[in-house]
Amino acid sequence: MIFITRRETFNAAHRLFRPEWDDEKNLQVFGKCSNPNWHGHNYVLYVTVKGDVDPKTGFLINLKDLSKILNENVVEKLDHKNMNLEVDFMENRMSSTENLAIGIWEQIEKPIRDLGAVLHCVKVYETEKNYVEYFG
Ligand code: NI
Repeated sequence: MIFITRRETFNAAHRLFRPEWDDEKNLQVFGKCSNPNWHGHNYVLYVTVKGDVDPKTGFLINLKDLSKILNENVVEKLDHKNMNLEVDFMENRMSSTENLAIGIWEQIEKPIRDLGAVLHCVKVYETEKNYVEYFG
């Protein structure tokens, strides 16, 4: 078993809030991420897949194929978008980093499996200081 990781980046806007709470309560719970006028983060995504080395290529997975999956299913949907308003797989979800990691996993698990590898971890940095890891 071997592991390989691809890094991608995207910028996206969001707001964490509960509509039934007033701005003060939202600020108390969600801090700056509750700003009513939105804000953005420079997200960094690490996707780790696992499997066996193909003796013909020496690869676990062709990174060009993995990059294509990540770009089509994740980066193009999120980059320069508002996660609360225009990202299909984040609909009806709080736009937290935790939910983002879960949503990304759901987007890419099957296409990666179709390439003969197994998705191992989706790691998302919202800031340099905070990241989430999801193992399915
Ligand atoms: Ni935020």
